[in-house]
Amino acid sequence: MNIYDYNKASELLKNRIKIKDLEKIEYEKEVVLAGWIINIKILGNIGFLILRDKSGDVQITIKKDIFGNIDFLKDLSAHTFIVVRGEYIKGIAKKYKEILAKEIYLLGNIAKPLPIDENSSFEKRLDYRWIDLRDPKKSIVIDIFSDSIKHIREFLYENDFIEIFSPKILGYPSEGGAEVFEVKYFEKTAYLAQSPQFYKQLAIIAGFERVFEIAPAFRAEPSFTSRHLTEFTSVDIEMGYISSHHDIMDLEEKMIKYTIEKLKEKYNIEVSLKNKIPRIKMEEVYEILDKKYIKENGDISSEGEKVLGEYVKKEYDSDFVFITDWPWTARPFYHMKGEPMKDGRETTKSFDLLFKGLEITTGSQREHRYNILIEQIKQKGLNIDNLRFFVEFFEYGSPPMGGFGFGPARFVKQLLNIENIKEAVFIARDPKRLFP
Ligand code: 4AD
Ligand code: MG
Repeated sequence: MNIYDYNKASELLKNRIKIKDLEKIEYEKEVVLAGWIINIKILGNIGFLILRDKSGDVQITIKKDIFGNIDFLKDLSAHTFIVVRGEYIKGIAKKYKEILAKEIYLLGNIAKPLPIDENSSFEKRLDYRWIDLRDPKKSIVIDIFSDSIKHIREFLYENDFIEIFSPKILGYPSEGGAEVFEVKYFEKTAYLAQSPQFYKQLAIIAGFERVFEIAPAFRAEPSFTSRHLTEFTSVDIEMGYISSHHDIMDLEEKMIKYTIEKLKEKYNIEVSLKNKIPRIKMEEVYEILDKKYIKENGDISSEGEKVLGEYVKKEYDSDFVFITDWPWTARPFYHMKGEPMKDGRETTKSFDLLFKGLEITTGSQREHRYNILIEQIKQKGLNIDNLRFFVEFFEYGSPPMGGFGFGPARFVKQLLNIENIKEAVFIARDPKRLFP
């Protein structure tokens, strides 16, 4: 047997099963398994490999009396991908199911000694993300991310939403401000979409009623925090004919409940989610939180969000809270204004959803009445000419509408109590990181 025989390896792969599928197989049956080596032990005439694939680990026992010579084991290394044909035996190993090997071939080259181990720095582990993710404790996060998106999609399709795919190269930044990436677009300057905001509204005005998009959003956030990425996946929804922002919160509440219940069927996760997520007006938050947590424009600082999260956990035994009716000074021009606060401060029909003290969603009812929208653009000091293409949407009729943007990376981070958002996503982008 020549372990380098790639034709033999390919041939065996035709019959490969997953390690987990051994559960369904009887002892003494022959199986083909493939994966990477975790550990190699040679004890005289017998060798032991621990083989891992995405579904689990198994022990491969290699005997000299079957192979004639087991010196090839000395050339193998941990993390080398191999394929094994062998007999599923009862074995004596407690921790693993056991295969008595008959044939072993390399699937790729022999792995070099790894550049990272459990003592490596966070940044170095991100540099070698493809190796770090071979650890099931790391890769399960990506599985949960995937299942979260799957269930959110299921829920939205079930609730009459259609999925749209809007452009990410824009003529004008959707959220404005400094956090926008400029790109050269032939002779013009274009902008990477910070949000599909204008396009999901366009879809409602086009008559679609309920739309969603799950797509990248780009933010030129120059800061390094544990909750910001420069590119992130955004779950955006928009719906028409709403009577207020509370309709949007009702929907999000159902979406979160559905998703978490589905995740709980498969994963061991713990969250406190009540039937009704508490809704606290910003006006009340100002009474709950110390002044030092409130920014000049009326926004809550990230420290303040944490304190509020603890408050809600204590008072309502909930990991989630909607903060509603934000001041106009802390919201973009397109949010619809609401009832003023007791002190006369203008508010918006808007909300944020906090999960364990971190914002995971911003949403609102939108201003769809042309004249008021124009007023609001002026009030924010924005140049109406730049927004002409957007305000024009409203000149030819529009229903009332609203929606939200939900950050799945932040959701997964909070769900699994992950310290840094970069470990909640497959491959992270931050101001310094463009590779891998
Ligand atoms: O709060 P944001 O900026 O709101 C909007 O984009 C609006 N257009 C949404 C709307 O429909 N009114 O972003 C929405 C969510 C945030 O709550 C957060 O979860 C996530 O997107 N998010 C980020 N996630 C990771 N890295 C970043 N830099 C993020 N910026 C926002
Ligand atoms: Mg926000």
